[in-house]
Amino acid sequence: MENVKTLGEFIIEQQSDFSDSTGEFSSLLSAIRLASKVVNQQVNKAGLMSHILGSAGEQNIQGEEQQKLDVFANNQFIKALVGRRVICGIASEENDDYIPINNNGRYIIAMDPLDGSSNIDVNVSIGTIFSIYQRITPIGQQVRAEDFLQKGTRQVAAGYVIYGSSTMLVYTTGNGVNGFTYDPGIGVYFLSHPDMKIPAAGKIYSINEGNINKCSAGVKQYVEYCKHVDAATKRPYTGRYIGSLVADFHRNLIKGGIYMYPATTDAPKGKLRLLYECNPLAFIVEQAGGKASDGHRRIMEIEPTDLHQRVPFFVGSQSMVDKVGDLISQE
Ligand code: AHG
Ligand code: MN
Ligand code: MN
Repeated sequence: MENVKTLGEFIIEQQSDFSDSTGEFSSLLSAIRLASKVVNQQVNKAGLMSHILGSAGEQNIQGEEQQKLDVFANNQFIKALVGRRVICGIASEENDDYIPINNNGRYIIAMDPLDGSSNIDVNVSIGTIFSIYQRITPIGQQVRAEDFLQKGTRQVAAGYVIYGSSTMLVYTTGNGVNGFTYDPGIGVYFLSHPDMKIPAAGKIYSINEGNINKCSAGVKQYVEYCKHVDAATKRPYTGRYIGSLVADFHRNLIKGGIYMYPATTDAPKGKLRLLYECNPLAFIVEQAGGKASDGHRRIMEIEPTDLHQRVPFFVGSQSMVDKVGDLISQE
């Protein structure tokens, strides 16, 4: 096979670029790759497996503990990461507090093990999102909250897996964005989308428009702008909203567009979580030439105060994120 590169080969190639002489970072990525394959297998079977669709904590007919797919995914990622011993702590959407792991590990990870979980029962794309930092407390000690409450600009890597019509793993280590497509027949990810770039001006807007009357004036104006007919600027834009952040983000990354989850009157801080939803996607979009903002500030410069902190989120093509930001600042 010519010009074919697997994720495994790519990780090894990058090892020298990333000054990872010990291979620890490569080992961490391999753990994520492994867990994503296990989760992918279960996601593909979700429609068949009633125990997967059952609620966590109940027992199925064989007396086995039932698990929701997001709990299953959480356990798989934790298991794979603990096994590699390079991680000193994990923060997850599924755990109230962070989990200290190996005190001698160098890296911490924040993750949304299963994003878009309300879409599982209806066979729509879902994902996993992760964000990786180096610890700031000394090696050898147990991790503390401050290791997790680092600004997004300090991420050393971030990525997502989309379990879609194909499964893909997309990640950055701060040196561009690369996408790998999974071949389930042989269990290998291949580099299919090298050096991904988001179009500077997109034509897709993604927002839960049912909430529009709970949004601020600037957001309302921007959505009106998206719908306004103007041939010169190719409006109206196309409205697309899946309700799986990873899937909406992935489509917009490839085609150009903006995803918005603004503050609403019910949720003044928005819905999405800074540490394991917004920061990793912000890192990826910036590496692909796009932008991510809370309407006022660059997402990656927000100083986190809480593991599960929420922020309004505007992410995608540069000119679109700038435009909605301008309208918000004029409110
Ligand atoms: P999760 O499944 O991890 O809780 O995340 C769901 C998120 C995100 O994936 C999606 O874009 C958003 O919630 C949808 O929210 P609405 O249903 O309020 O539009
Ligand atoms: Mn989520
Ligand atoms: Mn989730």
